Amino acid sequence: MDPIDVAELALSLPEIDSNRPSPARIYDFWLGGSQNFAVDRQVGQRAAAEMPTLQAAIRANRAFLGRVVHHLAADLGVTQFLDLGSGVPTVGNVHEIAQQANPAARVVYVDIDPVAIAHARALLAKVDGVEAILADLRDPDAVLTRPLVRETLDLSAPIAILMNAVLHFIPDTEHPDAIVRAYVDQAAPGSYLALSHAAPDLDHRREQDKMLDDYQSSTGVPFINRDPDLISTWLTGLEIQPPGLVTVAEWQPEPDIENPPMLRTYGVLARKPNPSPAETE
Ligand SMILES: C[S@@+](CC[C@H](N)C(=O)[O-])C[C@H]1O[C@@H](n2cnc3c(N)ncnc32)[C@H](O)[C@@H]1O
Repeated sequence: MDPIDVAELALSLPEIDSNRPSPARIYDFWLGGSQNFAVDRQVGQRAAAEMPTLQAAIRANRAFLGRVVHHLAADLGVTQFLDLGSGVPTVGNVHEIAQQANPAARVVYVDIDPVAIAHARALLAKVDGVEAILADLRDPDAVLTRPLVRETLDLSAPIAILMNAVLHFIPDTEHPDAIVRAYVDQAAPGSYLALSHAAPDLDHRREQDKMLDDYQSSTGVPFINRDPDLISTWLTGLEIQPPGLVTVAEWQPEPDIENPPMLRTYGVLARKPNPSPAETE
């Protein structure tokens, strides 16, 4: 991957505020990336000090994304991916994993963070069938009607909708359930939804609350841990694929990998069923 200089990028793109920490860049820092500023690293370091199991959870979340995309592309024959809240490109990007299984796989990355999208565009300049757009996933109609989305993905055929570690940034007042539903409703039958979501750590509630207070006040972005029981209500009507809604480390785990204790993040893969004969009449 050709690295771009994040400081130079900030000079060329006025919408990048290098004084305000951003979730995308803090996540990049936690994963060991270089697309972050001092303000991001400071928040990231404080959070990791408060919750020592945080970084293991971040790595497990990213590994879940890799396994679920591989499964979709290699085992389920999915060739189209809409990655919502895709983050700063890093090791194991969706298009790399999908195109390894099927070189014809097509991917659209969507993120609200200009560093994430600028870096993705630099990386993707020479990759066929892969695009990146700066957009807010909270407006499904706007995302799904963007020309680059329409030119890259055939929405009349099945796609995989990826919402990995992003819905916890959407408060209840903005109806994450309805957002998920809007993407699923507009996707063809046979499409898949893969998502992961942070959950409360019942053993370290106080530390987790303290960490989140700091994270939210520093970034200005809400962060809501949710119980898996609630998340499963968002999946009504979909066919949940084995092993169900489980912690990301438990989702089709790599054999012989020992997982250290970590903050709980849940992951799931679900399929939009084909209409019943009565519905098609
Ligand atoms: C924690 S990162 C997850 C990255 C990647 N999906 C993964 O799991 O490795 C969350 C990403 O979601 C993006 N994001 C947050 N709210 C968003 C929104 N409303 N629309 C689009 N992207 C959003 C952030 O900018 C960030 O890059």
